[in-house]
Amino acid sequence: MINELAQLKQNALKAIKEAGSLIGLEELEIKFLGRKSGELTNLMKGLKDLKDDVKKEVGKLANEVKTSIEDLLEQKKLDLTQVEIQGKLKEEEIDITQPALPKVEPGHFHPMTQIERDLAKLFSSMGFMVLDGPELESTHYSFEALNIPDTHPARESMDTFYIKGHPNWCMRPHTSPVQARAMQKYGAPLRAVVPGRCFRNEATDGSHDHTFYQLEGLIVDKDISVAHLIGVMKELLEGVLRRDDIEIRLRPGFFPFVEPGFELDMRCLVCGGKGCSACKHSGWVETLPCGLVHPEVIKAGGLDPKEWNGFAFGLGSLRLAMQKFGISDIRLMHGGDLRFLRQF
Ligand code: PHE
Repeated sequence: MINELAQLKQNALKAIKEAGSLIGLEELEIKFLGRKSGELTNLMKGLKDLKDDVKKEVGKLANEVKTSIEDLLEQKKLDLTQVEIQGKLKEEEIDITQPALPKVEPGHFHPMTQIERDLAKLFSSMGFMVLDGPELESTHYSFEALNIPDTHPARESMDTFYIKGHPNWCMRPHTSPVQARAMQKYGAPLRAVVPGRCFRNEATDGSHDHTFYQLEGLIVDKDISVAHLIGVMKELLEGVLRRDDIEIRLRPGFFPFVEPGFELDMRCLVCGGKGCSACKHSGWVETLPCGLVHPEVIKAGGLDPKEWNGFAFGLGSLRLAMQKFGISDIRLMHGGDLRFLRQF
């Protein structure tokens, strides 16, 4: 039994020294010292059959074996714990010399969208509805309902894109088709603005593009005069541009759907009036064609022109955006160049 004890001690110490993990160590503890069927426990079961004096000696030895196994287990446990901690630290190490992740750049609205939202807000605060209209529009609403009959030379000047095989449909060349639509839908009195995209078959240059933006404005009420028109236009420009040094001039303008009709020009804000490509080198930008709504248009909207009149304007909102942000070439607006767009 003494030999067996010595052998057990040797086996146990060897196995414990070689253990590679804390779990493995726990298994060894159970294997050798387990109270129910550990090897040492099993061996000790034979103790009761021994003679008293031998029993004492063997018991002492067994205790020594047990203690040395326990001591080594304890020591090994500490070592392995250290190893595991070191491993974890290494695994989770943060390299503070690594460059930071690239900054996430928040998105923002296109300058055109910014202007449209500003305008919608401003007009809402003045009691206008903000309406929408189709970009693919009938020639009826685009022209006839605006007092532009088939034979009228104004049709030519619109450079309209017609739909192949559908001569009565076009990409709207202005937002004015919504005038008759709005009157038909909402009746009078009426205050509405319609921001939107328009299309014309034009050669492009610094101040013309085939796709552009207007904001149509329409008031229908009783006894509307040119004074109302001028008052609202002033409020509009000062509000949108958030400045009070806007210089304007009025010229007579011709549009079949207004009578009288005007062209409202604004002193160019890009060059301050010296002349640049945004103002065609004239120092003035055509900003607001406008006028009192023609009785024929009131009629086309289903209202009685003897009872109702009003004014309308077609704000070149794309031009206005260029003025506000100091953009001198219209083609940049649809160019999608991020270096350009990031500036706004
Ligand atoms: N629709 C006209 C255009 O695009 C502008 C306009 C609108 C003029 C309203 C007068 C009144 O040229």
